[in-house]
This record gives sequence, C-alpha cells and structure tokens, in this order.
Amino acid sequence: MALRIGDIAPDFTQESTAGPVHFHEWLGDSWGILFSHPKDFTPVCTTELGYTAKLKEQFAKRNVKVLAVSVDALDSHTKWVGDINETQKTTVNFPILADPDRKVSDLYDMIHPNANDTFTVRSVFFIDPKKKVRATITYPASTGRNFDEVVRVIDSLQLTDNYSVATPVNWKYGEDVIIVPSLQDPEVIKQKFPKGYTAVKPYLRITPQPNLP
Ligand code: BEZ
Repeated sequence: MALRIGDIAPDFTQESTAGPVHFHEWLGDSWGILFSHPKDFTPVCTTELGYTAKLKEQFAKRNVKVLAVSVDALDSHTKWVGDINETQKTTVNFPILADPDRKVSDLYDMIHPNANDTFTVRSVFFIDPKKKVRATITYPASTGRNFDEVVRVIDSLQLTDNYSVATPVNWKYGEDVIIVPSLQDPEVIKQKFPKGYTAVKPYLRITPQPNLP
C-alpha cells in the first residue's frame, strides 16, 4: 500500500554515490528529503539535481538531509554526476542511491506501472526527525519539480511543529500565518503569540510569523 502522511518512513540499506546508506541511521536527528528521478542522463533530472545541490545552505539551515534515488546503477550515477556538475555549474553534494533492485523504489511506491513500469515517477517524501512521513509530492517524469516549493513546505512543517501555526494559501516565508484551530487556551495563546493576532473569524486567526523579530 502507498505510504501516507503520518506513516513511519520505511528503513533500508542501499548503495549510493557516497557509500552505503542505512537510511534511519543516516538521517539521525535531521529532517529528510527522499526524492526519486526516473533515469540518469535525462534533461529534466539533470536540472533538478543541479538546482538541489545549489540549495545546500538552505537545507543545512533547516537541518534537512537530502537523498536522491533512481533505479540506475552506481557506475551510471557516478558518470552522470560529472555531467550535472559541468552543465549546471555546481557540485552535487548529496548522495544518489543506486536502486537497480528497486528495493527503495518499491518500499516507497515510486514506480507507478500505469505511467511507466520500469522507471520511478518524480516522488518527494518529507520526513521529520521522528522518521514520520509529513508530506509527499508526486509529479510525472515530464514535469520538473519546484525545489523552492520543497524548501517552502519544510518551512511550513517546521513552523507548525515549533509554533502551532499553519500557513495559508500561497504563503511565503515572512508573511502572516494562522494559529492552528486546536489551540484555544487564551493563556497559552497569549504566551505563544506575544505580538497578538487578528481574529477574522473565530476559526481564522492571523498572526505575524512567530520566529521572526
Ligand atoms: C527527464 O528527466 O528529462 C525525463 C525523464 C523521463 C521522461 C521524460 C523526461
């Protein structure tokens, strides 16, 4: 069955461009992004992995480790990384899992046979430090993902965990957020949101992003 939000991300050991990855141990106390690409030496994947490498500081700031996977073999990945670095003017700085036996692809249901029975679709799994799946994104092979959106989702998830807020439609970092409806105790609200809030409706309470000065 497909993985759902709230499930524990399955553990595995698999080879990668940075040596064997024991997934849960490798994650440690970090957040994780596990994302699949359909095939090495393909144009969209080349741009995605290059851009992800350029986000290294953004992920590090948020305590996020990034791990790519495809069903291609390790020697193919290693050769392809050279092309990514050359064409995208970067250095791939995260491991790419080699998954020719489809161990990881099958565990995470990344092969959608009615789309293609050999290659993975473009999946993204957002995994929290307790190893829970917190969000997923699935795109077809022909549509490159928006990795700025991946960072934005991480920001939203971390704000929810740390400050009991949700993020509204098209929210961008720095904009107002919403106090989660489950938070009702006025004393706790006063303590958590010293800048106050505006109750547009009893269930729609807007407050400045709480982790900013
Ligand atoms: C790509 O990465 O460019 C790609 C891969 C599979 C199908 C279409 C595009």
